[in-house]
Amino acid sequence: MKKLSDKNSEKLQQRVLKNAIRVLGNQSSLIDFSSNDYLGFAKSETIFHRIHQFLIDNNIKQNGATGSRLISGNHILYSKVEGFLSNFHESESATIFNSGYDANIGFFSSVPQRGDVILYDEFIHASIRDGIQLSNAKSFKFSHNDLENLEERILHFINNENSDIYVVTESVFSMDGDSPDLVKASEICKKHNAFLIIDEAHAIGVFGKNGCGLIQQLNIQNQVFARIITFGKALGCHGAAILGSQDLQNYLINFARSFIYTTGLSPHSLATIQMTYNEMINESSSFDQNHILNSNIDYFLKEIKRLNLNFIASHSTIHCCVISGNKKVKLIAEKIQKNGFGVKAILSPTVPENKERLRFCLHSYNSKQEISEVLELLSNFVK
Ligand SMILES: Cc1ncc(COP(=O)(O)O)c(C=O)c1O
Repeated sequence: MKKLSDKNSEKLQQRVLKNAIRVLGNQSSLIDFSSNDYLGFAKSETIFHRIHQFLIDNNIKQNGATGSRLISGNHILYSKVEGFLSNFHESESATIFNSGYDANIGFFSSVPQRGDVILYDEFIHASIRDGIQLSNAKSFKFSHNDLENLEERILHFINNENSDIYVVTESVFSMDGDSPDLVKASEICKKHNAFLIIDEAHAIGVFGKNGCGLIQQLNIQNQVFARIITFGKALGCHGAAILGSQDLQNYLINFARSFIYTTGLSPHSLATIQMTYNEMINESSSFDQNHILNSNIDYFLKEIKRLNLNFIASHSTIHCCVISGNKKVKLIAEKIQKNGFGVKAILSPTVPENKERLRFCLHSYNSKQEISEVLELLSNFVK
């Protein structure tokens, strides 16, 4: 087989030298403090059986979508699930993409136009960055969660009449777990007529009534131009949707290349999205899972205070303890893993150098005892 080019080999070697080489591992049997399966839906047998039953009851015996949604792949479940999502999330339209990555690439590569300006939080997710890279618009970052800096940037670019301004941030940051002041962000955007886009990947299922997300919890859904919601986190399955106006949906269907030039999701995937939502909005079970999840978040916060541990401030499922240096953070992660806890080190270049961290994801199925034990281990290893 032909070998990698010298340039590619050199890049891999650099990763090794920087202690940043990525390798695939098997799914571990360690106590889960790293997955995005916040409510335990990904492994729910009840949901698994309901999906099967739903497909049987609706006489859907088709394995694949058969093509792009614009050619042959737009099977009946798409309109049902999109109708449900727009209703539940109080939006004019919901447009399903194959993943959150595809949704962000599709949106940012197609909506902002040449001459427009995209202002993005410096810690924005890679999928948004990649979408911005594909856009003809100019882009500039603002300091993390710093809305004064955002407004200064808007004022700097606002003079040009032909230039629309797009502002993008996350309601829960994937690598920090923190949130911007979203009400203030929406007021600033309204005041300056900027288009606000919020990625809600890590807020769905965690915040808001029945897990509807932080934007609806704050009742600012009508101030936001577009929301990106994803189903691979708390919903425990796969896919994503862009919520916005009917015009936005028409636009995306016509111009978002990651929507157009790809095979649609299978009926099974759509049924899975619907069944996981049904579980989330089922008053008794969603109350249980969401309630336990939130009490675990409170407990985790109390424990880090008790142990005097230094974490990035967060009220979400994601909590990070910064331990500078890939080598050091990897070593501590390995020690904790040896004690049975699946905690992951997040290395540079995924996060900036010196901001390497141990990232704890909390779930409804973590026990209080597990939380105390893993934090006590961390406390022993960092002191
Ligand atoms: C904030 C954010 N947006 C988008 C994505 C991409 O979503 P998906 O995993 O569905 O491609 C992720 C996942 O890592 C994320 O954390």
